[in-house]
Amino acid sequence: MIVVGVEGTAHTFGVGVVDSVGWRILSDVRSTYTPAVGSGILPRDAAQFMGENAGETIRKALVDANVGWSDVDAVAFSQGPGLGPCLRTAATSARALALYHKKPLVGVNHCIAHIEVGRVLAGFKKPLVLYVSGGNSQVIEFNGGRYRVFGETQDIGVGNMLDKFGREVGIQHPAGPKIEVLARDGGKYLPLPYVVKGTDLSFSGILTAALKYHKEGERLEDVCFSLQETAFAMLCEVTERALAHLNAKEVLLTGGVGYNKRLAEMVSLVASEHGAKFANAGKYNGDNGAMIAVVGALMRRAGLETPIDESQVYPNQRTDDVEIVW
Ligand code: ATP
Ligand code: FE2
Repeated sequence: MIVVGVEGTAHTFGVGVVDSVGWRILSDVRSTYTPAVGSGILPRDAAQFMGENAGETIRKALVDANVGWSDVDAVAFSQGPGLGPCLRTAATSARALALYHKKPLVGVNHCIAHIEVGRVLAGFKKPLVLYVSGGNSQVIEFNGGRYRVFGETQDIGVGNMLDKFGREVGIQHPAGPKIEVLARDGGKYLPLPYVVKGTDLSFSGILTAALKYHKEGERLEDVCFSLQETAFAMLCEVTERALAHLNAKEVLLTGGVGYNKRLAEMVSLVASEHGAKFANAGKYNGDNGAMIAVVGALMRRAGLETPIDESQVYPNQRTDDVEIVW
């Protein structure tokens, strides 16, 4: 089955084409909105960017995949959660494609797409998932037909924390990748608030304390190093607690912060100490259309379809709202 996936929840308008036979990703084209230095994502600007780039991104994804519309079995789109204006723009594109080309439409949960792309590519069955991105930081288990949140941030996502720190110190969005590079040249550990409460986390205190160190003149490299070591150790602690409690055999790291090599190294160590396999969503960690297409294919294979008049977007949809019937 060949599915076209349209992603548009925040910064990236992504279109991917996937063949569910052998889970081959035929194309993955991303157009990414970049806010000005000192600014975060402005939802209306991001949505406008998506509208302007949608046509070309869709066209290129089909050309790269070397498929025509007659080969396509369904159109999937990110139905939630995310920024309302962006979600609506992507949904409008997907509805137009489905109607014009007479293909079934499927609405996909963005968080589940981050999980499922990593899971199918790794060949995992029921992984314990560490999903870390801009908006989300969750440890997730599969139980009773849903992905259930074992623990999560009580305030901002870890990626959001890194991006906000970057914004204040003059690093352009997204700051995560640049902080990773700076941290490699740091080595002096500056103590930061380590906040784990049972299975939940909090990152806002780290942000405030790190900005204070920066103002006091500590080297940016050392602040970045300390930020990463503290935040990532917290994530590992909750992952390890879940791993031991659930006796999980597979651990999957996914979401944009999953690109971070230091985090991947730490999580893979936790997994190996418990005899669990480890996988990372790799180049599909960040927002992309291929992950939406993967879930679209899983949903279509289970006979699901989203009629146009039920295709409204859900900006606040949660991971555990969705029943996994595939
Ligand atoms: P979600 O809706 O899933 O929260 P998102 O809009 O945050 O998605 P993603 O592409 O999943 O989008 O994640 C983006 C985040 O990943 C940003 O906060 C960015 O700074 C962070 N990030 C990207 N690369 C790295 C890296 N190498 N190290 C740390 N953080 C990174
Ligand atoms: Fe995301």
